[in-house]
Amino acid sequence: MSNVKLDFSNAGFQEKNIMEYKEQVEKIHNELNEKADDEKEFLGWLKLPTYYDRVEFIRIKKAAEKIKANSQVFLCIGIGGSYLGARAVIESLTHTFYNYKKNDTPQILYAGNNLSPNYINDLIDIIGDKDVCINVISKSGTTTEPAIAFRIFREFLENKYGIEEAKNRIYVTTDRKKGALKTLADEEGYETFVIPDNVGGRYSVLTAVGLLPIAVAGIDIDKLMLGAKIAQDKYNDSNLKYNECYRYAVVRNILYKNRKNIEILANYEPKMHYFTEWWKQLYGESEGKETKGIFPAGVDFTTDLHSMGQYIQEGRRNLFETVIRIEEPKSDITIKPDEDNLDGMNFVAGKTLDFVNKKAMEGTVEAHVNGGVPNIIISLAKLDEETIGELIYFFELACAVSGNLLGVNPFNQPGVEEYKKNMFRLLGKKS
Ligand code: PA5
Repeated sequence: MSNVKLDFSNAGFQEKNIMEYKEQVEKIHNELNEKADDEKEFLGWLKLPTYYDRVEFIRIKKAAEKIKANSQVFLCIGIGGSYLGARAVIESLTHTFYNYKKNDTPQILYAGNNLSPNYINDLIDIIGDKDVCINVISKSGTTTEPAIAFRIFREFLENKYGIEEAKNRIYVTTDRKKGALKTLADEEGYETFVIPDNVGGRYSVLTAVGLLPIAVAGIDIDKLMLGAKIAQDKYNDSNLKYNECYRYAVVRNILYKNRKNIEILANYEPKMHYFTEWWKQLYGESEGKETKGIFPAGVDFTTDLHSMGQYIQEGRRNLFETVIRIEEPKSDITIKPDEDNLDGMNFVAGKTLDFVNKKAMEGTVEAHVNGGVPNIIISLAKLDEETIGELIYFFELACAVSGNLLGVNPFNQPGVEEYKKNMFRLLGKKS
């Protein structure tokens, strides 16, 4: 049973426009599947829901149990694809105020995703008197931001617990063989998890990169993988007519050709904020190259209707909007009538907050479509592990197909090196 459904009725064109891409999509589908087992192709994520490493999966669950038992804080050190996926899943599936709530799982905090001294000092301030475990995640093992944060927090743990106990509290997720982090982990004897060679950073959430932090947060990673497997089976149809994932990729490209070069992913659920951040990285880094690509932007509605809403309604007409609609909220509130009605809000009395939220969504979609912003709706049955697993796979596959339609390689990120070269020069790094 699928938990993800798409509605293209407000995208602004007809079935025949989509079906013009039928052969091109079939070709991309066949190429992706033919190359899926080639280690050099960065397509390891394609069959991951079927062939993930079961032995490592059990080790992840065991490590998560140990971490839950001995720590109050779990610190994830990583940047880009090495933390956004975990954060997206954790924040979409746990209590909105998870870190403030009393849980039988540790608080999950993040470091190594910026270079702010304030951030690190404030973090040390917060976790200083708590029991802490660290997961440092870096595929290359050489990324500056997590490497600096790890140096600082490794010393923090060693000072707090002594060198031997610190080793029990450090978990490393990195390449199987290479990189400074792998060398360091081997030297120190830290427990290590592997990012497969053929899975790139932004496609790695369903490997140990995402799964260890997600499991520590108490989320059922079996169900998450099951959701991804449902999507893998469902979206394996080469026929564009029946494959909503490929249709999303095609519709984006048609819109792009019609000068709609900014896609806004809009959610009406604050839990989805980091899912949007993950999606932005996936699409931005995969497609933005060779002076091409749709710019992926994100908004949290209704909050941002009061900041970005004006631009979306009446600014430059180069936007389209993809709305995440969640059919069934985790909980709801019925708004009570008030005898005096001094706030004038009795028109919503007896209605639920979710109902009001949905009407805000429907009213906004209508306004934006009428204002010249084409719209795609992605409906999720509810926020649970299976649905999120399915959505992750949906977006990954659509991104690969969309990048191919655009004519770029969706699995490299040559542009990311540019700032690093300058930064290293300014810092006097010897190559
Ligand atoms: O998608 C990618 O490959 C990148 O965004 C990486 O995830 C990010 O740059 C972090 O790299 P690393 O895991 O090597 O530290």
